[in-house]
Amino acid sequence: MQKFGTSPIDDALMERLSTYGELHPMLKRGIFYTHRDVKWILDEYDKGNKFTIYTGRGPSGNTHLGHLMPWLFNKWMQDTFGVNMIFQMTNDEKFLFKDLTLEDTTSMAYQNALDFIALGFDPKKTKIIVNTKNIEKLYPIALSVAKKITFSTAKAVFGFDNSTNIGSIFFTAMQSAPAFLPSVDAGKQVPVVIPCGIDQDPHFRVCRDVAPGLGFPKPSLICCKMMPGLSGGDKMSSSDENATIYTTDTPKQVKKKVGRAFTGGCVSVEEQREKGGNPEVCAVFKYNYFMFEHSDDELNEIARKCRNGEILCGECKQCLTQKINVFLEEHQDKREKAKDVIADMAYDGFEW
Ligand code: TRP
Repeated sequence: MQKFGTSPIDDALMERLSTYGELHPMLKRGIFYTHRDVKWILDEYDKGNKFTIYTGRGPSGNTHLGHLMPWLFNKWMQDTFGVNMIFQMTNDEKFLFKDLTLEDTTSMAYQNALDFIALGFDPKKTKIIVNTKNIEKLYPIALSVAKKITFSTAKAVFGFDNSTNIGSIFFTAMQSAPAFLPSVDAGKQVPVVIPCGIDQDPHFRVCRDVAPGLGFPKPSLICCKMMPGLSGGDKMSSSDENATIYTTDTPKQVKKKVGRAFTGGCVSVEEQREKGGNPEVCAVFKYNYFMFEHSDDELNEIARKCRNGEILCGECKQCLTQKINVFLEEHQDKREKAKDVIADMAYDGFEW
């Protein structure tokens, strides 16, 4: 918050959000913890000026739990406010920034979209954009954005240098475009809120800076912490395959990965029975905290038992494995069914 200059989601804002529906656990637990101009979005909503939700994904590989986490919050936003939503697939971004072909990232866009749809977004109110497929609509907006951003700003925000390819330098304009698309489509100023990981704030800082000069409202942001990895790292990352659970993993794979997770346990059973474990550093506990244990009472009970040495890591891992596998079994089923509606959710009806 200090570095990026975002505001905390304080008690007053939490209180206000709770007047629209039951607060999502990710808000109560401070996982979604910071924002820009959410009060304004709510003021407009109260006046009858509905906002559009915008979020996205850079399709560089299979979807993992760390990606689903903020999407679940997006779903809560859509359900709570009953508003339209756009989801951007930046297949161009991952082609430019990674060692992947455009074919790779475009087919991943399809695969990732199935996961997104599986979470149950309203098919009538939700559109998926794939940058290269919707370029005719996005390009004029991206151009107007790009014209307002200097190379020196792009360098300062993203750390580019003379060896950066020029597509990457332009890219942030493409990520800004969907923030203005609802206004372009409606022919009037439509408020937009972007629920996303805090790592995306640099793009939207730039986007917000240029908005007034283009005659658009600044998009509002509501941001979450990054989902940790199973190995105890700060962020679940696809580059650490064994510490990452993909939506397509089998129960056996999940069991194996959770089994190897970093915990807050002691070296021996005797020691742990005596001294207890430390849930604060435990990846298994964090998974319960971030996604898999919605009941605060249950969560506190797990922490208490752990600290007292009443439960050991093996048991905790087994419980989490089961919760993840129950979730994934249902998710994989819905993911299959998503294939029937994915065509309808293509923005402007593009061919997948
Ligand atoms: N840049 C994001 C990524 O690498 C993808 C993305 C595009 C996005 N538009 C977004 C993420 C809006 C959050 C909100 O994954």
